[in-house]
Amino acid sequence: MTEPKQDEPSNIDKNALTRRDFLKLLAAGSVALTFTPFIPWGQFMPNPDNSVPGKQQVVLSDGTNANINTFPINHSEIIIYPSSTDTVLNSEPFRQWQLIRLPTELGGSSTDVTAFRVYSMVCLHLWCLWRYVPSTAQQPANNGQCPCHGSMYNPLNGKAFAGPASLQASPSNVLATLYLEADSDNYLWIKPATWSLYDNGIVGYGRFLST
Ligand code: FES
Repeated sequence: MTEPKQDEPSNIDKNALTRRDFLKLLAAGSVALTFTPFIPWGQFMPNPDNSVPGKQQVVLSDGTNANINTFPINHSEIIIYPSSTDTVLNSEPFRQWQLIRLPTELGGSSTDVTAFRVYSMVCLHLWCLWRYVPSTAQQPANNGQCPCHGSMYNPLNGKAFAGPASLQASPSNVLATLYLEADSDNYLWIKPATWSLYDNGIVGYGRFLST
């Protein structure tokens, strides 16, 4: 068996180098995106769907429909939008959203859609998937936390307030969102999304906060 030469990187090292270079490229790309909000990025970013997404009932992971009367306060679940009959498409990170019912202290006990928020799970830093962490008596800071580099998101508006995503300029510091409505039986529905920086935002890139 031929031993690799001492000064020649192994296959593992070569792969690590490739990944590192890729992340550098991605970081450079993020900086470029930050300074060019006037470009119609929605046409180029891998958004969930290039067609106009429609109104869709909120379906939970157990197959039931989300309802204001039964969805727990200070709780979140992953939902898919736009959902497809193709399970591979449904597993795309750019279709994963966190449906959050806020904790009581942030308005989660309201019995209308104001108690809820929906944000894209794609972190605005380098596209890892963040998670909502419910508040507890011991740890009252309820927020979205990214496991990769520690970016944290405000559950009220989806704006990063800590970690590298919080250092990115607007609109690359606010998560894309979905807007909800409830029917007469209190079932939740997602309103048709518009993938632009001034509406639902652009998944993986961001959104301008409305004032
Ligand atoms: S990907 Fe870096 S903080 Fe989320």
